[in-house]
Amino acid sequence: MGEVGTWVMRDPLRLGDVSDVISLAGGLPAGETLPAAEIGEAVMRVTTSRLATTALQYSAAEGLPVLRAWIAGRASLQRGRSVAASQVVVTAGGLQGLDVIARALLDPGDLVAIDEPVFPGSLHCLEMYQPEFLSIPVDDDGLDVDALAERLEGGLRPKLVYTVATFHNPTGATLSDVRRRKLADLAERYGFVVAEDEPYTALRFRGDPVPPVAAYSDHVITIGSFSKTLGPGLRAGWVVVPPALADAVVRAKRWSDLHTSTLMQYALVELLGRDAWFDEHLARLPGVYGQRCAALRAAVAAHLPGVLEVNDPAGGLFVWGRVVAPGLSADDLLDAAVRRGVSYVSGPQFAVHHPDPATMRMSFAGSSPERLELAARRLADAATAALGQQA
Ligand SMILES: Cc1ncc(COP(=O)(O)O)c(C=O)c1O
Repeated sequence: MGEVGTWVMRDPLRLGDVSDVISLAGGLPAGETLPAAEIGEAVMRVTTSRLATTALQYSAAEGLPVLRAWIAGRASLQRGRSVAASQVVVTAGGLQGLDVIARALLDPGDLVAIDEPVFPGSLHCLEMYQPEFLSIPVDDDGLDVDALAERLEGGLRPKLVYTVATFHNPTGATLSDVRRRKLADLAERYGFVVAEDEPYTALRFRGDPVPPVAAYSDHVITIGSFSKTLGPGLRAGWVVVPPALADAVVRAKRWSDLHTSTLMQYALVELLGRDAWFDEHLARLPGVYGQRCAALRAAVAAHLPGVLEVNDPAGGLFVWGRVVAPGLSADDLLDAAVRRGVSYVSGPQFAVHHPDPATMRMSFAGSSPERLELAARRLADAATAALGQQA
């Protein structure tokens, strides 16, 4: 259940008589894409092998060497240059990756530049370390790197710049290659670290992959996750950090939770060590998400002309919508929508400093094309009701 999915379920009065809610609210991967049987077999193979008791013991804070080496190998391919296994720390999901980075790097009052709009989980995680936030707008090409450059030229000195460069949450935007290079240059010139959060990069359903920001500078930390590819319940992710930061990040991880589940790491090694299995698994995902994204976009265009426009992401789980009917906000529409059995997250929930009441995030990931069509019809009814109330 996603953040606002939970909220909708906890507030039954808002649901009226509707028990069949189509949630476009959460950030969950499609359940049918998660390889339950293979994960089960991998765990079974570990617990029935000679490694069984080792897998149930404490292990190193930085993670199992084989898993770190596997992650370093993938990172090297993506960056087009060598990443050492010693730069990898295995974490309990991407969000813990951000947490250990913040724990290692930030002091209260430090300036952190951050996407606006932003994934609230990351904002709240960083808030725990009491930084000052400098919000940088995200547009169709991702983080507005020129706006960041202006603030740097004006004298501001962030220690960390956090961004989801590929299939941004919430907007679905992807940072252009030109901006990636500029961001990397700025990091080197002004000495800050970029935290490049990459939970969605593997979920591309159109176009060619773009090199990560980390391809262009050593001042970049990659935050990775198996949540959207193998399942968020595993709590398995990683960070790749510059060599100079590795000790501090390992210490932060150790004194956070000692280490990520040893059993789960051994199971991952089993699974990822099978010839081409992971790549074949990843290759099945674009078909599912591409079809669902197209279905939601088509349904919105068919049923909500003049009311709602949505963008056209090349991957990820979300479209970003804008209510174009005059006088109607995404929150007004949400009230009416939830009563008719459809939910989404209104844009202001993703604000750092500048809420945009017209915007909303809709996830196409968890519903079939038919259900997405029904969701758009329900939204159209909701819009008619909400606009009627205002007349
Ligand atoms: C941008 C972003 N970062 C991090 C996370 C957290 O992911 P994980 O399950 O890997 O902790 C999410 C989850 O939706 C996300 O959208």
